[in-house]
Amino acid sequence: MEIFIDSASKTEIEKWLKMGVADGVTTNPSIMLKDGVYDAERGAKEIAALINPRPLSVEVTTNDLDEMLAQARKFTSWASNIAVKIPQENQDGEPCYGVIHQLETEGVKVNATVALSFGQVILSAKAGATYISIFAGRLGDEGGNPAEVIANSVDWLERWGYKSKIIVGSIRSVADVLQAALAGSHVITIPPQFIARMADHKYTRETVKQFVTDARTALEKMQQVRG
Ligand code: E4P
Repeated sequence: MEIFIDSASKTEIEKWLKMGVADGVTTNPSIMLKDGVYDAERGAKEIAALINPRPLSVEVTTNDLDEMLAQARKFTSWASNIAVKIPQENQDGEPCYGVIHQLETEGVKVNATVALSFGQVILSAKAGATYISIFAGRLGDEGGNPAEVIANSVDWLERWGYKSKIIVGSIRSVADVLQAALAGSHVITIPPQFIARMADHKYTRETVKQFVTDARTALEKMQQVRG
C-alpha cells in the first residue's frame, strides 16, 4: 500500500518525504488555496521537482471538456511525474470518461477523481484511468459506507485485471486511514496533520521517557562505582 500526502505545503511534503513514508502527493484547487499556492504552475513545478520521480496529481479547473484536455496537456508539460485529476463528471452532470480515455490514449496518467460510488469506479477503470480517487469522507457524509465501496472496487479491479489503482482521499481522521487500509486500498492520500497523529501515542512517549531516564540513571551509577 502506498501513502500519498494530500497537501500543497512544500514544508510538510518534504518532512514526510525525508521520513520515507511518502510515495506521492495529491492536490486540488481547494488544497492549493488553503496552503497559499496561488500560482498553480509554479507550485506544481516546485512540488514535482521535490518528489520526483514520485507522482504529483494536479486537478483541472474547468467544466468544459475540451478545456480539460488542453489543461491536462499543459500540466503534463510542466514535469514528467504529473498525473492529471479529471472528475467523474463536471458540475452540470456531463460525464468526463471521454476526456479520461483520450488522455490515457495519449500517454497522460489520469487520476479519475471525486468518485463517490462503485459505479463511477467501474466506468473510470473502463475508460483507462491510472488512478481512481474515492472520497471516503464525503461518501460517509452522504450516509454511504466507504469501507464497502473501497473493498468492492479493489476486488472488482483485481478480479478483471484492470490497471487502475484506488486512491482513498477525503480523509477526516486516523480511523478513516485505518479503515481504508483494511479495506484494501492501493493508495491512501492523507492530510499531513493525520500522519502526525498516526505517529503519536502517549504511551509510546511515556515508555521512551522511562527508557531514557533509566539509561541516564545507569550512567550515573556507573560513574559513582568508578569513583
Ligand atoms: C484527494 O485527492 C482529494 O483532493 C481530497 O482528499 C479531497 O478531500 P476533501 O473531501 O476534504 O475535500
